[in-house]
Amino acid sequence: GEIFATLKVLIIGESGVGKSSILLRYTDDDFDHDQNLTIGVDFKTKVVDIDDGKVKLAIWDTAGQERFRTLTPSFYRDAQGAILVYDTSNKNTLVKLESWLNELEIYNTKPNMVKMVVGNKIDKPEREVSRDDGIRFARKHRTLFLETSAKTSEGVKQAFEELVRKIIET
Ligand code: GTP
Ligand code: MG
Repeated sequence: GEIFATLKVLIIGESGVGKSSILLRYTDDDFDHDQNLTIGVDFKTKVVDIDDGKVKLAIWDTAGQERFRTLTPSFYRDAQGAILVYDTSNKNTLVKLESWLNELEIYNTKPNMVKMVVGNKIDKPEREVSRDDGIRFARKHRTLFLETSAKTSEGVKQAFEELVRKIIET
């Protein structure tokens, strides 16, 4: 079928929250217990069926570790969507999303970029962030919200599809 649009989506958040794992689950339906940390920027594409059409997603995955971060204005430029990931077993990773949201404000040139806060690793029994806390954070920052597990794949496909739908209707 015909591809109607290419959308640029960023995945950001602290190191170890599972950004690359979410991407691997989504594009390859795979999971790696020993997923390497990302150096610089990684990039994958996926064609998504939405309603009667197809959309090509260009997904940019970034290093959470400051010393491996090579984020330039061109990384943020023209991104229509951003997935901001925290780890539901680590409260501090949610707190840190505040500064990632600020980065988006500073660099992103699109005023109506669609943002989604994602709480990942819900398969882990130890919880530091309740679902309600996540929802509250997302509401405060006017973003979409979902919980995921890259390990079990729960919520991963939904996250990208919800984001794409919202971008299309924005
Ligand atoms: P940086 O590249 O350093 O920014 O980290 P990242 O956010 O890309 O995290 P990454 O995907 O490398 O995952 C870090 C670790 O968490 C790896 O050992 C993964 O296997 C593990 N992990 C990722 N997602 C999940 C999940 O949903 N559940 C569990 N239990 N572990 C996960
Ligand atoms: Mg990574």
